[in-house]
Amino acid sequence: MCGIVGYIGKREAAPILLEGLQRLEYRGYDSAGVALAHRGRLRVTKAAVRVGELRTLVGEDNPAPVGIAHTRWATHGEPTDVNAHPHLDAEGRIAVVHNGIIENAEQLRAKLIASGVEFASDTDTEALAHLIAARLRDGAETLEDAVRGALHQVEGAYGIVVLDVKNPGEIVVARNGSPIVLGIGDGEMFVASDLAALVRHTQRVVYLDDGELATLKAGDYRTSTLQAKRTDKTPTEVELSDEDYQLDGYADYMRKEIGEQPEAVRRALRGRLDERFSTARLGGLRLDPRELRSIRRVKFLGCGSAYYAGQIGAGLVEELARLPADAEPASEFRYRNPVVDPETLYVAVSQSGETADTLAAVQELSRKGGRVIGAVNAVASAIARECGSGVFLHAGPEVSVASTKAVTNMNTTFAMLALLLGRVRDLSVADGRRIVEGLDALPDHIEEVVRTQDEPIAEVARKFAEARHMFFVGRVRGWPVAREGAQKLKEISYVHAEAYQAGELKHGPIALIDPSMPSVVIVPDDELLVKNIGTMEQIKARGGPVIAVTNAQLPEGLADAELRVPRTEPELDPILFGIPLQLLAYHLATALGRDIDKPRNLAKSVTVE
Ligand code: AGP
Repeated sequence: MCGIVGYIGKREAAPILLEGLQRLEYRGYDSAGVALAHRGRLRVTKAAVRVGELRTLVGEDNPAPVGIAHTRWATHGEPTDVNAHPHLDAEGRIAVVHNGIIENAEQLRAKLIASGVEFASDTDTEALAHLIAARLRDGAETLEDAVRGALHQVEGAYGIVVLDVKNPGEIVVARNGSPIVLGIGDGEMFVASDLAALVRHTQRVVYLDDGELATLKAGDYRTSTLQAKRTDKTPTEVELSDEDYQLDGYADYMRKEIGEQPEAVRRALRGRLDERFSTARLGGLRLDPRELRSIRRVKFLGCGSAYYAGQIGAGLVEELARLPADAEPASEFRYRNPVVDPETLYVAVSQSGETADTLAAVQELSRKGGRVIGAVNAVASAIARECGSGVFLHAGPEVSVASTKAVTNMNTTFAMLALLLGRVRDLSVADGRRIVEGLDALPDHIEEVVRTQDEPIAEVARKFAEARHMFFVGRVRGWPVAREGAQKLKEISYVHAEAYQAGELKHGPIALIDPSMPSVVIVPDDELLVKNIGTMEQIKARGGPVIAVTNAQLPEGLADAELRVPRTEPELDPILFGIPLQLLAYHLATALGRDIDKPRNLAKSVTVE
């Protein structure tokens, strides 16, 4: 989704801002822009172009030491040059970049228009620029006061950065529901919506909280609340560096991140497996054994792939802890006035920790007194902070829009949660040990899939690259795996992919099977193997090609292609079976010449509804 970068200091701002925008490209955007203030002049360059082209438009000669920049993902108004940020007031004094949505924008616009303001764009953001300028005209003493006053009129979510050409010695930023991080340099300050744009310059950061503002000067910063109360923020040292965002010779981030999974899973497991008691240690949950035993039900909430991971988590909890568990899209939960049960453990699942629907579900739960923990990758993100307790995923920064390593770490983390919940109940020591050993071996198994299956899967992908539609079919443990596989394929290849429970095929969808409709069937070597072989036979009998993802010995010639995975404990199959499906989606999209890291219409983190 939209990206923000700002700089004030002693260097030329333009290259820093443009490079920052480039780092945020992965979030998805349709237009970009920069505003630079120098010697009483505001120079704005913005267009519905990629950052590379914006760089050309901005040109070389830019001595301005202060500026703000933005990548926009259209919400209010088409993705056009005029709707690109920054937005200005009528006088061209105030420039604003904004992430989020101003919900009362229509009312604000109507009022401003009635007072004689002419709007240049269709955006909600432009209203902010006019409101801030009006406050300054009406005597606000500082830019911060003017911004604060304007924000009191605004309803909705925002992360904003504001520049006043008449006072280029400072920039003002504010946050409510959309992330803003300050980067502290030596005689210079940075601001961004995402660490990725900062870590090249500094590791010392300050995360703004909702309802907070900050005034940044080259040498210092000051934070306060919307009610003008000073806040004291202690800077944090982030462990990420610019290297974490390098491609390291890979063609794209998705393939790089698929390959990083063994290490990512090792990080998620580190220090969390308790061999002595055959259980897991998840201190961040802040639940003692008695509290763990008082849980009667578990519900996972997330969006997209995080929701499918939650479904895998629910399966694991039912199997290992024998507790009723399910998963629900957070986007539905927030709107259906859910019954919140005090004996349910709610798990909010999110890579970015900023997904608006998941955050709203957490807030709804907190408001109703529900017990909610986070399963989040991004430390210090809104969902992690709102939950207060939970388990971090430790996948490392994930840049690719198509989530791979974060999803695998979600699944791994849920296996540990299920193990812990099981071992305070009736899961035996022997079964606990089996799962601990299975988890311990997981990184090596993933490594084996990536190492041995990459090329064979690329070949299968080339063979089926003509297909315009595909089924993904799974049963019980394999069903959420199939859903995630279909999701991955859709996202990056734009091939229409539908996931079905194997048993449901014959109730309707089987009518679509013909030689042009390949089915990817999840076939673990478990108690349902015979049933899954039956499903493959049904598909073959209708002329449909079958790609089996399996660790079983299948009847000769049944599948047209086999994607092989090593044997693990059956309960952990869903974690491992996801890996070849990531590779299949990746290679199919590559065969079709898709832009893997910038899939159309998608954003990495969906911070709006
Ligand atoms: C995953 O490949 C997708 N890009 C998407 O479904 C994603 O999982 C979803 O938007 C949730 O994101 P989050 O994990 O950051 O909350």
